[in-house]
Amino acid sequence: MRPSKAQIITFANIKGGVGKTTAVTNIAYLLGVEFGKKVLVIDADDQGNATKALGVRDRFDRREETLWAALSRKLSFDQVMVESAFANIWVISSTKELKNAQTEFGRSARGLKLFKHLLKGATNQFDYILIDTKPQVNILLQAALAASHWYLIPSFPEPDSYDGFLDLVSECEEICDEENDQLKCLGVMLSCVKKIPAHESYIKFIGKHLKQARVQLLKPGIRVSNAVATGSLHSCPAVSLASAHSVKEDYRKLTKSLMKAVEAGAKAPRPDLPRLGVVKDNLAQGHEEDLLIEDGIQEINLL
Ligand SMILES: Nc1ncnc2c1ncn2[C@@H]1O[C@H](COP(=O)(O)OP(=O)(O)OP(=O)(O)O)[C@@H](O)[C@H]1O
Ligand SMILES: [Mg+2]
Repeated sequence: MRPSKAQIITFANIKGGVGKTTAVTNIAYLLGVEFGKKVLVIDADDQGNATKALGVRDRFDRREETLWAALSRKLSFDQVMVESAFANIWVISSTKELKNAQTEFGRSARGLKLFKHLLKGATNQFDYILIDTKPQVNILLQAALAASHWYLIPSFPEPDSYDGFLDLVSECEEICDEENDQLKCLGVMLSCVKKIPAHESYIKFIGKHLKQARVQLLKPGIRVSNAVATGSLHSCPAVSLASAHSVKEDYRKLTKSLMKAVEAGAKAPRPDLPRLGVVKDNLAQGHEEDLLIEDGIQEINLL
């Protein structure tokens, strides 16, 4: 089933280096190349990692075809998007000037509508619009959330990756209350999952507590894979490499279940913020039974 209008998904986590860009680019590749969906990726992080990973870094006009040009000169998506090297995938590229967005727009009424204006008409032309964001609450994240149907939280299976989680979900819920009542939480996805007891116990712990807080832990987790670094070296998503195996299998399953959920208009209850706070406290204290693990390596069942 094809969504009648594009589903807009913002990938967000205030914690840096937890697999946001890797998720955006690999899921975009599978949606576009394997599943034949028309995809627009917006790189809203001035680091420009998604722009690079989709092979467009040197293929756009830096004066005209950038997210910054669109936002600062009120251009529309079709004036600034460029076709990527991959079938069915278009990109709106990031440049360093995006850093100016916060001082330029702040949390103003215009700032919060930046992506709504940018994407006027885009939902009729694409099946999916994926937005990669920077690891901080800034106007670009807020504006992306204000224009999205969903937010998805990439994370690693380690307690540190939970830092800022409550702040992020609180921010998303505030945007939902004040700017965009269509915004729903798609869930948390885990990357870099290893076959070690520490990850197994963390996944059990977080799965149980997220469920109580009405946030889904998406399955499967993405196993750690050398192909991700190889993909970075070649400026392409890992799943596009012939040498990628486990990471391709995991991302394919995850992408299929995401498609199923969003195309069926899955219901997503509002997250229970006080309960998310309790998880944070438990992690900080580290005394939860679930997190007590035996030392040593053993085979475990991944998600
Ligand atoms: N499944 C995986 N296997 C191995 N390495 C991975 C995997 N997923 C992500 N990584 C690595 O983790 C690091 C962080 O990933 P990524 O750049 O996607 O995170 P990010 O959240 O976008 O970071 P930032 O907050 O800086 O934008 C990268 O070096 C990436 O190659
Ligand atoms: Mg990133």
